[in-house]
Amino acid sequence: MRTVTVQSGNYRVLIGPGLLSQAGERVAEAVRGRRCAVVTDDRVGALYARRLLASLEAAGIRADVFSFPNGEKNKTLSTFARAVEFFAERELTRGDFALALGGGVVGDLAGFAAAAYMRGIDYIQAPTTLLAAVDSSVGGKTAVDLPMGKNLVGAFHQPKLVLCDTDVVAELPQPLLRDGAAEMIKYGVLRDPQLFSAMADGSWRERLEEAIARCVSIKRDYVDEDEFDNGARQFLNFGHTFGHAVEKSTNFALSHGQCVAIGMVMAFRAAGVPEGELVKTLEKCGLPTASPCGLDELCAAALLDKKRRGGAVTLVLPEKIGRCELKRVPVGELREWFRRGMGETACR
Ligand code: GLY
Repeated sequence: MRTVTVQSGNYRVLIGPGLLSQAGERVAEAVRGRRCAVVTDDRVGALYARRLLASLEAAGIRADVFSFPNGEKNKTLSTFARAVEFFAERELTRGDFALALGGGVVGDLAGFAAAAYMRGIDYIQAPTTLLAAVDSSVGGKTAVDLPMGKNLVGAFHQPKLVLCDTDVVAELPQPLLRDGAAEMIKYGVLRDPQLFSAMADGSWRERLEEAIARCVSIKRDYVDEDEFDNGARQFLNFGHTFGHAVEKSTNFALSHGQCVAIGMVMAFRAAGVPEGELVKTLEKCGLPTASPCGLDELCAAALLDKKRRGGAVTLVLPEKIGRCELKRVPVGELREWFRRGMGETACR
């Protein structure tokens, strides 16, 4: 097992096999409460809730399960309301806690419910997707979506513990592994040529625990430097400004990881850095590399991005594998950056 400690919020991320079955003892070390609400979705709950509940019970922790239907379309204010009402019906107090068992949707929603209920109770993340393991379960961003856009209502609320069971991650279906791989490649491009090579030659699959721990350490460093996302944390948006535009233009037909993959290739082209190595690595991981939408659609979508601040957007541009820079770009210049990002396609 590996441990990464996050200073902002002072908590540990445990990464290793069998952690769901050991959840009770690990949780008891991290929080004082002995009552909790496990927040999960119907798919994940059916697979893993029993294992988790048995372990919590053995450690003397009483748990009630709040489950909602799987999918981003349920990460809404109404599911949030049902979750906090569930906490209240079960008479959770400020000394009790929530435990998110699931992927990014569950983690974001449970974290936001924990942030708001009684002005904030403890919560624990138990990510069950690779994407949640390497990204959303760490760093305390919690939110739900509005009809106007994703993650528009939320809070920064750090978990007390993150439990990443690599047995669960290892048995994920291909599409969920691919989505996580896109974020892992992102970390390689940002800071770690060795991690990038492991993604490129496929060896990360045999060294899953080490690869996840490396990604979490890189994320931890950005979060500890800039918990509230006003500076260095924006590096984590590499591939996301272009990727979110693809996500919106395709009406979310492509997954987040697929859109980030396309967005990273666009960022390389926009920066004028040869993208061959990146494209090969993304293809090796089964990820797409070209936008299915045209320049006009992407630019219209980019202008709605919530990451736009005032009249400018911060792009994360690569210099080489392992090094990127932040660049403030006036909104009026965004189209030109997208045109470059589209490469030849837009010039024809
Ligand atoms: N997912 C990017 C961040 O946590 O800042």
